[in-house]
Amino acid sequence: MKVLVVGSGGREHALVWKIAQSSEVTEVLAAPGSAGMEGSARCFPDVSVGDQDAIASLCRDEAVGLVVVGPEDPLAAGISDRLRDEGFAVFGPSAAAAQLEGSKAFAKAFMERHGIPTAAHRRFDVLDEAVAWVHERGGRCVVKADGLAAGKGVAMCETPAQAESALREMMLDRRFGDAGASVVVEDWLEGEEASYYAITDGEHIVTLAAAQDHKRALDGDRGENTGGMGAYSPAPVIDAEVERRTVERVVEPAIRGMAAEGMPYVGVLFVGLMIDAQGDPYVVEFNVRFGDPETQALMVQAEGDLFPLLLAAANGTLAAQEASGGGLSWRGAAVCVVMASDGYPRDYPKGLAIHGLAADGALERSDDAVVVFHAGTRRAQGGGFETSGGRVLGVTARGANVQEARDVAYKAIAEISFEGAQHRRDIAARALDR
Ligand code: AMP
Ligand code: GLY
Repeated sequence: MKVLVVGSGGREHALVWKIAQSSEVTEVLAAPGSAGMEGSARCFPDVSVGDQDAIASLCRDEAVGLVVVGPEDPLAAGISDRLRDEGFAVFGPSAAAAQLEGSKAFAKAFMERHGIPTAAHRRFDVLDEAVAWVHERGGRCVVKADGLAAGKGVAMCETPAQAESALREMMLDRRFGDAGASVVVEDWLEGEEASYYAITDGEHIVTLAAAQDHKRALDGDRGENTGGMGAYSPAPVIDAEVERRTVERVVEPAIRGMAAEGMPYVGVLFVGLMIDAQGDPYVVEFNVRFGDPETQALMVQAEGDLFPLLLAAANGTLAAQEASGGGLSWRGAAVCVVMASDGYPRDYPKGLAIHGLAADGALERSDDAVVVFHAGTRRAQGGGFETSGGRVLGVTARGANVQEARDVAYKAIAEISFEGAQHRRDIAARALDR
């Protein structure tokens, strides 16, 4: 069967890499894909993720058997509905179900309806009312733009004055465009964050490992928020008991709730969690796709064939796989360290030569324990690769445990270079300090 992966980032490279290993997959296609994926997929650089017509015609021309959608924007825009209407099997939720990520207000109201634990919140469409409320309640709070803001529309506010300026930026100055037309103000949750993943066909559920991301640019969780500077799996904060609570209190009611409300959820549900000191999970956010860079770690850690699981979820036949954990096992650990351009997450140069990679984009010194996922690279004129984005590479390693995976990843990083390259030196340190 031919499988099409929609997207071009490190997450999609990891999915392409894993799916290509399936004996049931004849070829992986990627739209638009990236130069770094070419070892595992045939790429269609002219087909953009937002072009539903082009993606549909690619599916027809190539007789694609399964479409896996990477990013949230095309899901929110209804790509799954469109392709399903044309008879294609799609791993990814409908536009209606994608509101779980696309609208924070929708997600909060949904959680309230289904008793899913999350921070108490209020939603506002009028600036003055929101400002009055943050002053009245006092103390710390979190202000969030309602719509999709590429993970950036969240302000952690220590004081009502900070909250007021965040509200003004979002609602008045429209710093995040229309995403800030309405806002959610919520309690600041204390604890340790982790993300948890469940694959579902709308009814049946196969859970994956838990992972932890590092959103801040600098060591020690300082600096600006980024798309994610590294990740590791498994995340020890989600032990067996926390996992049981997460499935029982969050994952199952969410999947049941979406079905009951006529929006059966098909794809991967990414639950961003805060685990409090008692080991009780609270939902920080739902995402309707795989995490980036968590997926790079998850795909390298997972043993077994991912493809049948994705296909069964798309086809509504996951029941048969539920008992076997979808055929995946999660021994050992994996760590992904992101190499980013100088200046990221703000302005950064492009077109800088990358050293230390082989012609296919893998680590020059081949090492079975290391996979280099490309996020922001392109082919250079004279051969090799050059930088083309903020997050450039996700250097990912597996090991018997987090310590070992981490050591291997950092050793590989030391062999790759480009001008101004930056990476965090403390990825997964928290897992080791426990
Ligand atoms: P979100 O886009 O909702 O995931 O928020 C981005 C980040 O902000 C999260 O990963 C958390 O680190 C932080 N955050 C969001 N909401 C809260 C909250 N209620 N309490 C504490 N931290 C939060
Ligand atoms: N790494 C967080 C995200 O993908 O949203």
